[in-house]
Amino acid sequence: MRVSEMENHPRYRATAKLDELRASEYARLDAGRHVYLDYTGGGHYAESQLRAHLALLREHVYGNPHSTNPTSQAMTERVEGTRRAILEFFNADPDEYCAIFTQNATGALKLVGEAYPFAPGDRYLLTFDNHNSVNGIREFGRARGAHVTYVPITLPDLRVDADALLEELERPNPNGNNLFAYPAQSNFSGVQHPLEFVEWAHARGWDVLLDAAAFTPTNRLDLGRVKPDFVSQSFYKIFGYPTGVGALIAKRETLKKLRRPWFAGGTITVASVQGDKYYLSEGEAAFEDGTLNYLIIPAVKIGLEHIQAVGYDLIHERVMLLAEYLLERLQALKHPNGEPLVRLYGPASTEGRGGTLTMNFYDAQGHAIDHREIERRANAQNISLRTGCFCNPGGGEIALGITGTELAHCFRQPGHETRVTVDDFRLCIDGKSSGAVRVSLGIVSNVRDVDTFLEFARGLII
Ligand SMILES: Cc1ncc(COP(=O)(O)O)c(C=O)c1O
Repeated sequence: MRVSEMENHPRYRATAKLDELRASEYARLDAGRHVYLDYTGGGHYAESQLRAHLALLREHVYGNPHSTNPTSQAMTERVEGTRRAILEFFNADPDEYCAIFTQNATGALKLVGEAYPFAPGDRYLLTFDNHNSVNGIREFGRARGAHVTYVPITLPDLRVDADALLEELERPNPNGNNLFAYPAQSNFSGVQHPLEFVEWAHARGWDVLLDAAAFTPTNRLDLGRVKPDFVSQSFYKIFGYPTGVGALIAKRETLKKLRRPWFAGGTITVASVQGDKYYLSEGEAAFEDGTLNYLIIPAVKIGLEHIQAVGYDLIHERVMLLAEYLLERLQALKHPNGEPLVRLYGPASTEGRGGTLTMNFYDAQGHAIDHREIERRANAQNISLRTGCFCNPGGGEIALGITGTELAHCFRQPGHETRVTVDDFRLCIDGKSSGAVRVSLGIVSNVRDVDTFLEFARGLII
């Protein structure tokens, strides 16, 4: 199908509202001739989001929330209204879940990691495919004597080995605490790991941390149906603006077992110097340290309303149509001698995946073209894509065939005890690719973005 055919395709035409939206609300993309293919890195905002937020700040006088003075009360209403809007957006029952404001998804994950009551013999189970902010929780677990176990993902689709997962889930610490963490969508491969894992784990005595950061920009997460204990979220990935606000959406019941390592302004009911004692607040307040980013938080509600007005189904449909178009065409690209140009990491079809595609390019002799060279060339054409390992080393190691033995050898070498540069690392893995090229689609992606990238890829054929 050529571009014009795709533009006339009935399913694509049915998503034409997004083209109108791009023209009216995201005109800066085309005015700057941008080909933006890094939605998993960060989403884009509509101009109306900025106007609405600015109007709010211009027209009201706001003070630091959580006091009884009028400007403070006005702000408290906005902050609490945004909290309610977040729960509503994810269809989370406010009696069951609460929304804790954090700086980003990483902040949400750190809150869980530092306060989860890991003790000797407890377990932290996680998939190979995880963002480093989920991997990092292992250090909190280990420091308190918990066992850390990774469940493998398998080639070629980079999905979790379900048998291996079940085997581990069957072995919780029976009298202790057990935390299982995985991403609803991989930021490396775009794989959507089954949401059913949540109930598999619950049924076997585990708490579940679902990292939704790469999933929710183009997929609806319904916490009325899927009920993880903790969900991590960064809002800029869904609607671009504001940055600096995320949330930990947590089950109230599970939250009660977290033990914060300290207290701070805003997190206590009473703290005493002479009495040397403090009492933590209930629910979300105990997890929000100091003054919230209060002037910015109402922009989250504006963003959520924007997504609701556009419609998740429409965004999802457009993104998946484009993903299918891109998957088919990328895999068909060949050098004149018949060698494939592209090696894709992850599912080759749209089944059980999202609109994030990761790959490496190869020359006609089958040698990988350095992903940094691809990025340099893409930059020159105003194409924004992302290269490297995207903070997901487990996904990268499996996809790129880097083994544990190789890594152990590398990290044990003299001089590598505390410091390894990217170039040292490349030497260690003996010429294998140390990273890949990622393109990701989002709310106002169109077929021209995808086609420009395909044209760019064709330019690598020799
Ligand atoms: C799956 C996933 N989890 C967590 C994060 C961390 O998000 P942030 O950097 O906003 O904290 C990202 C960021 O790309 C991600 O893709």
